[in-house]
Amino acid sequence: MMHPDKLLSMTTLPLHLAELMGKPVNDIDTPALVIDLDAMKRNIGRLAEFAKKHNIRWRPHAKMHKSAALARMQIKAGAVGVCVQKTAEAEAMVAGAVYNVYISNQVIAPAKLARVAALTQRVAAHGGQIAIAVDSLEGVSRLAQAMTEARTSPREDSGAAPAATVIDVFVEIDVGQGRCGVTPGPAAVTLALEIRKHPALRFAGLQAYHGGAQHVRSALDRQAAIAQVVAAVRRTRQLIAEQGMTVGLVTGAGTGTFALETASGVYGELQAGSFLFMDRDYAANERDSAQPVFEHALFVKSQVMSVCASHAVVDAGHKSHAIDSGLPAVHGLALDYANGGDEHGILRGAVLPELGEAVWLIPGHCDPTVNLHDFMVGVRGGLQHGTVEQIIRVDARGALS
Ligand SMILES: Cc1ncc(COP(=O)(O)O)c(C=O)c1O
Repeated sequence: MMHPDKLLSMTTLPLHLAELMGKPVNDIDTPALVIDLDAMKRNIGRLAEFAKKHNIRWRPHAKMHKSAALARMQIKAGAVGVCVQKTAEAEAMVAGAVYNVYISNQVIAPAKLARVAALTQRVAAHGGQIAIAVDSLEGVSRLAQAMTEARTSPREDSGAAPAATVIDVFVEIDVGQGRCGVTPGPAAVTLALEIRKHPALRFAGLQAYHGGAQHVRSALDRQAAIAQVVAAVRRTRQLIAEQGMTVGLVTGAGTGTFALETASGVYGELQAGSFLFMDRDYAANERDSAQPVFEHALFVKSQVMSVCASHAVVDAGHKSHAIDSGLPAVHGLALDYANGGDEHGILRGAVLPELGEAVWLIPGHCDPTVNLHDFMVGVRGGLQHGTVEQIIRVDARGALS
């Protein structure tokens, strides 16, 4: 019997993509975002094994792949659910039958909070749970109001009577990135105490993610950064305990540092996302020996469209891949990729590829690259001789609200 993900894809796919199923890699038109499914599955397996060995939960960040099918694959491999950054991403996950979703970010607009509260109603019917981060008293108050309203009005999707749902709330502390989060210490205690006052909110623990540490190249420097993070988390947890409250879970960590947060014994959940595809920028980090090895699994397939004595030109520019973290690397060939603009990439090297040849690019940054595409083409059996096994929709493409 055909796998439901494949069936779903085939019934809703543009014809040219549906026709690709089972075809050789050669037939994939360019530029296209391609997943090496074998490499991706190995990456999932390595993280799952790491988490099992260290007895820690993993809730991978779906802001990276934005696909409900990939989220379900990760959950099947042992993930407890997924993280997202945006309300609309959470909605895309729930629409794709992913019912344990943590919005690891601040949501402050009442209209969005009403949508978050509606999601708690929707997932409750499937035994799921929505969680969210907060970093202000105003944020707690607005969330409580939205949850109370959702408990008293009929469900917006079905008109059914509402359930007395509860949302898990994590207090976000700023552990060094200088982005969202309250200062570790008493400010976090104040928020935890405030959350406790609202029956529709459950204080679930601390969100402590240091985005700035993820791409620090030196393993020793990352270690030093996370040591400070852990000290701040411990201090805050102790202060909360002194108020008679328990920090049920500390959640955070990305692909660059998760082995360190795990080793601290303080974290109970890992949020790493990029390990799944492993972009060029992450591969430039000096590897921490405690961390599993991840392979590149996401590629832009491009084609050489022009050649001259000094260079070749491919049909993938920065409308095909994000360049915020640098330009793509060329997979398997000694060529440098230079930016040729929106639709072009310029290749230079001692041996240039031929006109019409396929060139595989490893994107600099996977998250915003995925967000440029409607679909990802999943290939089994390698980029040379493999076949197309799955077309994966980027369900939350452009889900920015
Ligand atoms: C809050 C949060 N958690 C986890 C991650 C996952 O990090 P990565 O994709 O680098 O593993 C991110 C990424 O930006 C994030 O913002």
